[in-house]
Amino acid sequence: MNPNINQLQSYPFQKLRDLFKGVAPSCVHQAINLSIGEPKHATPAFISQALTDNLAGLANYPTTQGSEALRLSIANWIARRYNVPVPDIASQVVPVNGSREALFAFAQAVIDTNGRDRFPLPCPPPQAGEGDEDSLREKIVNSPAPIVISPNPFYQIYEGAALLAGAEPLYLNTTPENAYSMDFAGVSDEIWQRTQLVYVCSPGNPTGKVMKLEDWKFLFELSDRYQFVIASDECYSEIYPDEAHPPLGGLEAAARLGRSDYKRLVMFSSLSKRSNVPGMRSGFVAGDAEIMEKFLLYRTYQGCAMNPAVQAASAAAWNDEAHVAENRRLYREKFAAVTAILREGNRLAVEEPDAAFYLWLKVPGSDSAFAQGLYRDYNVTLLPGSFLAREAHGVNPGEGFVRLALVAPLEACIEAAHRINEFRARL
Ligand SMILES: Cc1ncc(COP(=O)(O)O)c(C=O)c1O
Repeated sequence: MNPNINQLQSYPFQKLRDLFKGVAPSCVHQAINLSIGEPKHATPAFISQALTDNLAGLANYPTTQGSEALRLSIANWIARRYNVPVPDIASQVVPVNGSREALFAFAQAVIDTNGRDRFPLPCPPPQAGEGDEDSLREKIVNSPAPIVISPNPFYQIYEGAALLAGAEPLYLNTTPENAYSMDFAGVSDEIWQRTQLVYVCSPGNPTGKVMKLEDWKFLFELSDRYQFVIASDECYSEIYPDEAHPPLGGLEAAARLGRSDYKRLVMFSSLSKRSNVPGMRSGFVAGDAEIMEKFLLYRTYQGCAMNPAVQAASAAAWNDEAHVAENRRLYREKFAAVTAILREGNRLAVEEPDAAFYLWLKVPGSDSAFAQGLYRDYNVTLLPGSFLAREAHGVNPGEGFVRLALVAPLEACIEAAHRINEFRARL
């Protein structure tokens, strides 16, 4: 077996099941689950209809690159949404079966563990005739693993992808002190020289933080200097509070900064949250044509072409915005109600996120004790923040926080907020 598998951590929801083992939830309260970030609003009927209307497609093998119709609907969506030129559907856009599999697969395609590319800059890759073979081999074997940088707390797929690609994850803590931003300026030159891939998540899970143009500018400068690839996870991009201010996207930032070739930048997007179809498994990857060409080749072998009926339904979903605006309205309603309740009595410091559907809430004492107590006494399930983060730079930056996913119906979210308040008042 691949020994790197042994480095994989159990998923946060497994940790949650372990935390609740042997704990009986209050039987006088109906269960409310705000732990999983699974959208629960109804799937729009026209998407389900497009799916069933296209079942004839099951008679054909789909291509890995996906239909032209789907790639065109994605490319046009990117252009409309981010105010950028329509990406080239032959070289810059690939549909994927949800962004999760693509975020994972991407590291497998990008990371180079053969050593030569890992020699610190400015040391150039050895040329034929330079040094003897044995010392070269020794240098390669002894060179440190490539680094994959990710935010912390973070979506755990980044870590597993890095480990299984033979890389070493490096976590940048996002905390209230740094306004939940990744502190790229604090990364040493030596670390950057070993870095091959940086995952960013904007809007962030769990903090909802959106990267600003100046954050992107700095990251692009670093990528130019150290040649690492940027994987921009934007699966929450369509869940935002202000209709007039959608979150800035990676491609949009690049185009605004004159980088219209999207050099070393690839974005990951998804219909799961945007269109309430997490079960359909549909998203896309778009960006740097040179990287996309190799990624597509990799995917051909991985064998992850999208079901033709799903392709047709996805094209219909990307072509429509009305259902997405309605989706946002429902989340806005829940955020307004829940934050107002949680602020009553001034016992909890509630900060509205820039975007996404999570509340990242500071709680008194241990986050896992809070989650366990709330489950036991009020039958509300939420996720301890420390389960979403790793100890890095001396702390677990998720410690003391809980994540509430406002995915349940409005009434259930309101009821949960009241119970959280009651529980907090007793602490
Ligand atoms: C930050 C982040 N990225 C990616 C995903 C994957 O979403 P999907 O595979 O449904 O596109 C999720 C799912 O919850 C997520 O939270």
